[in-house]
Amino acid sequence: MKRFEDNNWKESMRIRFDFNNMMSDMLGEEWGISKAQITALEQQIKAANEKLNHKRKIGKTQWRELPYTQEEVVKDILATADGVRQKFECFVLLGIGGSALGPIAVHQALNHLHYNEIPREKRGGPRFYVVDNVDPERMQALFDIIDVKSTVFNVVTKSGNTSETMAQFLIVRDMLKEVIGDNYRDHIIATTDMEKGNLIQIAREEGFKTFYIPAGVGGRFSELSPVGLLPAAVCGIDIEELLAGAAYMDELCSQEDVFKNPAYMAAVLQYIAMEQGKNISVMMPYADSLKYMADWYAQLWAESLGKKVDLDGNEVYVGQTPVKALGVTDQHSQIQLYTEGPFDKVITFLTVGKYRNEVHIPKAYEKMSGVSFLGGHTMNQLIQAEQMATEYALYKAKRMNRTIMLPEVNAFTIGQLLYMLEVETAFVAELLNINAFDQPGVEEGKIATYALMGRPGYERKKAELDSRPEKKAEYII
Ligand code: PA5
Repeated sequence: MKRFEDNNWKESMRIRFDFNNMMSDMLGEEWGISKAQITALEQQIKAANEKLNHKRKIGKTQWRELPYTQEEVVKDILATADGVRQKFECFVLLGIGGSALGPIAVHQALNHLHYNEIPREKRGGPRFYVVDNVDPERMQALFDIIDVKSTVFNVVTKSGNTSETMAQFLIVRDMLKEVIGDNYRDHIIATTDMEKGNLIQIAREEGFKTFYIPAGVGGRFSELSPVGLLPAAVCGIDIEELLAGAAYMDELCSQEDVFKNPAYMAAVLQYIAMEQGKNISVMMPYADSLKYMADWYAQLWAESLGKKVDLDGNEVYVGQTPVKALGVTDQHSQIQLYTEGPFDKVITFLTVGKYRNEVHIPKAYEKMSGVSFLGGHTMNQLIQAEQMATEYALYKAKRMNRTIMLPEVNAFTIGQLLYMLEVETAFVAELLNINAFDQPGVEEGKIATYALMGRPGYERKKAELDSRPEKKAEYII
């Protein structure tokens, strides 16, 4: 029996959402949100819930079904991961945006913090790298430290067309062909759409092992699909537990009553906060393991909610700017601004009840009270005290803050966290009457890149670019 099949264990691993410091009971009428403000939104919340449920029913939000629909896929992933672990020294993911940030976040959360540096027998699998940029120095740096003969490359792109990922693929394929010859195809795994895009066509023609990203699962909502599950399984993460955590959160988020539904409540609070001018959403985990959850969240929040028009075509220009911070590190960098700067932020702490290690601080320098008070405590106590102290300082300064509490960082709690933040994002979008699942704002830049790189069919765009106003030398100093 797996531990997530035990209801007591599951309940003990339930993540909790503490929103005390968002409320006027704590911050005062002027700075907090009252219960009456939340209940006044009852009709809007009901309508948003109905719309979201309808989308789910008609299959428009397939990401919500990922915890339930992948039994066969999981088997295939586990078998493939097993083979990869036996055959390869390095696993390199080529992808960008939603095809990279989830795998990075989950790897950081659930694997050893120095995973690649520890000996192979202590690692869950091969060394793991994600290349989510087209910086030539980074690409070359990777080739300097891996041996392509013992490396498998997972090319991940939902659209199958993303220039950055396809450029990386072309480079890697060429190198593999040169070094390995015809067997290069055994070193490439494609994760992409089943029908659309160039990668699936190439994969079929060249015979790559392929995993599919289901329709209705957009990039930033795809971590629980093969996009995230394959790299996680390769590195020894229990992907069944990850999915079980997501399913558990789905259960918790199925209640219409916002006071019982953590994702809905989180969304409603952000929606009201945005109406009150809180244009910035800071995510501040107090754990290095959760550091890249903030990166993953930043993309989810920014691309889903930063929109010019609503679903009725009105210009709305909505969205909250996500900011990543790390406790305690950024207490010495950003907290000054958060406590004394403009009242334009909501800070979300991610806290951990029980860290995977306990480190004792030895007693010393008894006569030096400024140092000796630390001795006899643990680092665990110190980091938790600092989080509490920061939360208190923000509360005192009347700054909205809230905490998502993870009893432990494990696959089950990470599954919950991912799912909760996805549902929160989708629910805010319903409240704002915008489309969470498109990203028209990134198109112009993409098309301009095609034009600059000489892609056929983009000649007019190239001419448009060439006729842009010339930059003035006086403004470049
Ligand atoms: O969330 C999204 O849809 C985007 O950020 C994509 O993930 C990103 O643009 C990469 O796209 P693709 O997976 O098609 O290569």
